[in-house]
Amino acid sequence: MKFEVSGGGAQIWDKDVLGLALYEGFSEEDLSPLPPDSAKIVWLEVSRGNFKAKKGSSLVVPLAGERPQCVVLAGLGKKEEVRADNYRLAAFTAARAAANRKASSVSIVMTDAAGHEIKHDREISRCVAGGVVLAGYRFEKYRSPDEDDNFKPVETADVPGADPGALEEGRIISAGQCWARDLANEPGNVINPETFEREARKTAEDYGLEITVFHAPELERKGMNALLSVGRGSATPPRLIHLTYRPKAESRGTVALVGKGITFDSGGLSIKPADSMVTMKGDKTGACVVLAAVKVAAELKLPLTVHAITGVAENMPGGGAYRPDDIIRAYNGKTIEVNNTDAEGRLTLADALAYASELAPDALIDIATLTGACAVALGDTTAGLFTNDDSLGDEFLEAAKRSGERFWRLPMDDENLRKKIKSPAADVINSAGRYGGAITAAMFLENFVKKGQPWIHLDIAATDFAKEAYSYYSKGATAFGMNSIIGFILKRAGE
Ligand code: BES
Ligand code: MN
Ligand code: ZN
Repeated sequence: MKFEVSGGGAQIWDKDVLGLALYEGFSEEDLSPLPPDSAKIVWLEVSRGNFKAKKGSSLVVPLAGERPQCVVLAGLGKKEEVRADNYRLAAFTAARAAANRKASSVSIVMTDAAGHEIKHDREISRCVAGGVVLAGYRFEKYRSPDEDDNFKPVETADVPGADPGALEEGRIISAGQCWARDLANEPGNVINPETFEREARKTAEDYGLEITVFHAPELERKGMNALLSVGRGSATPPRLIHLTYRPKAESRGTVALVGKGITFDSGGLSIKPADSMVTMKGDKTGACVVLAAVKVAAELKLPLTVHAITGVAENMPGGGAYRPDDIIRAYNGKTIEVNNTDAEGRLTLADALAYASELAPDALIDIATLTGACAVALGDTTAGLFTNDDSLGDEFLEAAKRSGERFWRLPMDDENLRKKIKSPAADVINSAGRYGGAITAAMFLENFVKKGQPWIHLDIAATDFAKEAYSYYSKGATAFGMNSIIGFILKRAGE
């Protein structure tokens, strides 16, 4: 798809669908970008009380002429409370309405309370482009077309007043989100540790990234027994994948991203009940997000070094499977007693985090569909954040706020709770019961991050997967966290 930046005025009437984003309390004057006859019809609909411009709301008004065939009003919410993300949702709403009627072009106009076009800054332009790209996203490659379904992503979007460079950045970022969603949506019979490696290698080749992959013999030599153990029950052996983007010229620092990459989580011998196993193809979302993030960093040519690291494994109850009671020595030398093979993510992360710590990045961020307990605590539209560094945590939460992804910080300073991950037989135990399960998981991980290393742990369990479409998320994988990570990286790169 392509973006245009027309001069506005009558040029915006020449697209199939005309999207107009409005703040609450808008007046008839704010409809002035519409062709005069249409403005009357649309205002009549508005006067009937059908649209108040609440955030996320919309009104589609079909018109008689050929172009535009309809106007889509999209709500930005209250002007005083507006965030850049509201523009993304408004653009999504307009472009999704267009896509739902097989319209191939859309214009997206924003007006303020006086009927003037809103001046775009780079962030708004990025968001608008992102919204349009996300509006074209659905995962349906394995599904025959539905006769009654008119969905077709738009081909052209005109965004008068936008910054063309920022539109392109927004397109790259959201195309990366869609790519991560696609990969996460692939089922376990398509993506396993071997095929995930293939994707990573192809990405490295296409975007000029460095790549190192450790297969089982190498993992054995290095003593990455935690990752190895989790993979033992599967027919496809695990591997550790490390990609690096290095800017050609100046680098303003180093960020290491670690993603949980369980291509399918059956629970292993501590097997999950049938209903809990459904959606566990999504247990590789963290890995998909970090792979997409390093790809986007390269595409944007950011002046920042970015590492993406993932221990990829399939958690299965095969004959070679690791067992409850096993004691494992992780890469950093610490020993782990296993009391639940379904607490596998923290084991793969243990080795990956210890490995990433060796790079001594300015910031180390892991992202993982780690605990059902996090979803119980925060619901399935807010993810958990844990950190050993308050200022790094605040910096990330600020980026998350701007990205529109909800994160909430959970504490790691409860020493009584920390006792629960003690083991009589080893340095730590991998599961510590239901109470505070997201926190004890984070405390477990902390054992494998080098002391003094600024670190953030993101628990995206359940936010990774939308049971039904909401906001600009389609049903299925959301790539939750990717947008915040990109926002964080952009800031670190000085953008
Ligand atoms: N992948 C799951 C966590 C999960 C749950 C992700 C729901 C997405 C939605 C993780 O590996 C797991 O099984 N965690 C256990 C930990 C427990 C055994 C300590 C859990 O949450 O029950
Ligand atoms: Mn599990
Ligand atoms: Zn898991």
